[in-house]
Amino acid sequence: MKRSEVNEIIRQSDAFIRSFGFVLPPFAYWTPDEMKARRGQIDRIVEARLGWDITDYGEGRFDEMGLFLFTTRNGRLSDLQGGGGMCYAEKIMISKQDQISPMHRHIVKAEDIINRGGATLAIEMFESHADGNIDESAEVVVASDGVERRFAPGDSILLAPGESVTLMPGNWHKFWGDGGDVLIGEVSTVNDDLTDNMFREPIGRFAEIEEDEPPIHLLVSDYPKWLG
Ligand SMILES: [Fe+2]
Repeated sequence: MKRSEVNEIIRQSDAFIRSFGFVLPPFAYWTPDEMKARRGQIDRIVEARLGWDITDYGEGRFDEMGLFLFTTRNGRLSDLQGGGGMCYAEKIMISKQDQISPMHRHIVKAEDIINRGGATLAIEMFESHADGNIDESAEVVVASDGVERRFAPGDSILLAPGESVTLMPGNWHKFWGDGGDVLIGEVSTVNDDLTDNMFREPIGRFAEIEEDEPPIHLLVSDYPKWLG
């Protein structure tokens, strides 16, 4: 993706998020230079990879296959392994109409995917075989706002604003905005996006960035290069 496209997505996404009365935390609006100047105090942001995360899954077709994410909080894997502490994470995301987040599952992370407003959120689901691969024949059983619901393999749960589904590790899922753009909340187990996303197709998790103008804000995938 070109940096100019990323910058424009940041501007449009911020406006979309604010249109629902949701406001991002202060560090969302720091410039790259401000982040560098504060580097000594922001280990918790850099190491937890909090912030802007815009991906086309490396495919170069953001409108068809892509996702806007902003990680607002993310705990410590060491706390999870130790059995207590900051074991949670939260993201705000946007799926545009018919913009696919491709079929994947997680190894560690359970996630509540919440429709926070806008159009309908469609999530296609499969269960896993014992080896982790997609089970094309098993019924999918999930909790949706505390209520057990059953789906034929590959069927989609349709979430209206206010509705959510709990996806456990092993629940394969693919999602998109149905009939319009959707603001999505995610409340989950502490999350390592570098290692915990298993995709059905061989694709990447992060975008390749072509620097055609300066970034207005850094993406989490920029942190290693820009902030060390
Ligand atoms: Fe997921």
